[in-house]
Amino acid sequence: MPKVITLPGDGIGPEVTAAAVEVLREVAPDVTIEERPIGGLAYEAHGEPFPQVTQDALKEADAVLLGTVGGAHDSPWNKLERRLRPESGLLALRKALGCYANLRPVRVQPGLEHLSPLKPQLARGVDILIVRELLGGVYFDGDRKIDGDTAYNTMRYTTAEVERVAKVAFWAAEQRRGRVTSVDKANVLEVSELWRRDVQALRDREYRSIHLNHEYVDSVAMLIVADPSRYDVIVTENLFGDILSDLAAVIPGSLGLMPSASLGDGAGLFEPIHGSAPDIAGKGIANPAAAIMSVGMLLRHGLKRSDAANHVDRAVALALREHPTRDLGGTADTRTFTRAVLESLGTP
Ligand code: NAI
Ligand code: MG
Repeated sequence: MPKVITLPGDGIGPEVTAAAVEVLREVAPDVTIEERPIGGLAYEAHGEPFPQVTQDALKEADAVLLGTVGGAHDSPWNKLERRLRPESGLLALRKALGCYANLRPVRVQPGLEHLSPLKPQLARGVDILIVRELLGGVYFDGDRKIDGDTAYNTMRYTTAEVERVAKVAFWAAEQRRGRVTSVDKANVLEVSELWRRDVQALRDREYRSIHLNHEYVDSVAMLIVADPSRYDVIVTENLFGDILSDLAAVIPGSLGLMPSASLGDGAGLFEPIHGSAPDIAGKGIANPAAAIMSVGMLLRHGLKRSDAANHVDRAVALALREHPTRDLGGTADTRTFTRAVLESLGTP
């Protein structure tokens, strides 16, 4: 029996995670679900934001469903020494799971084109999956130094690192529209030359059915907002992916519509990209869609249950059309929205 560990966290985290868990129980009743603490509330209870009880539970998890961590701007948690702050718990969690591929779907839901900052004719039908390499590149590896008026970082990738993240992208594309755009800066960077060569070789060896093309990151930064429908799956290295994924996150028009998955060799981590929203926490009005869509990703990528994942995605799309929450210009609260999702799950 698969086991899912939930880490509701702080602020609206527990509210949206409770909604997500209801959906998970409905579509995957055989899954064992156990809750553990993380973030500010974990510090209050255990003296650290990523306590041993949580670390131990992860060893037996098949997937991890995270809420959000962090307090308000003036929270006393922000005055703690850095390693005790809620955000440190999150970083330690990601490190413990060793997730090297970060997946962010960017989808404009039918009927919600008006929320997008893009013109409706550009926003309509956007459905992109960004796969960002998460454990290598200039943020992590190798030499770094600042010395007087000179500083440097090194960007380094190995073929093994490129291939493992590219495999995730190809696998995802097989379940989507079969197209992968690999993003690099191969006209100036050696690392990108290796990246491009290895992604292409892997495609030619193992993923012949996938249509692969290569684009430069500066060009993608323009085209992802000027013509987003041209993309299916985008795969790229850590720094480029960080910037492109935040840029693309504005396309749907609300943080409440953005789920994510981080995959590695062990349990994957699934979470909404929004924060703990202290301004609306405890009011029962948070939009749980991103957390529920993260359950969809957990089913698809964590438990390899595509049918159940599709079922959840369809139910969320329907609920968004009929019961939009306040951040989407509607009136539905967390409860109403969640009930709408559960109801459409019940109707085949
Ligand atoms: P935020 O994402 O929490 O909120 C930004 C704005 O979006 C707020 O007005 C909030 O009410 C709204 N919002 C966010 N999610 C929503 C939802 N599901 N439904 C309706 N409205 C929603 O970002 P902010 O305010 O910068 O950070 C608040 C706290 O969250 C901080 O402590 C920050 O460190 C933490 N944070 C945690 C993250 C995580 O756990 N992965 C990610 C980002 C921030
Ligand atoms: Mg970022």
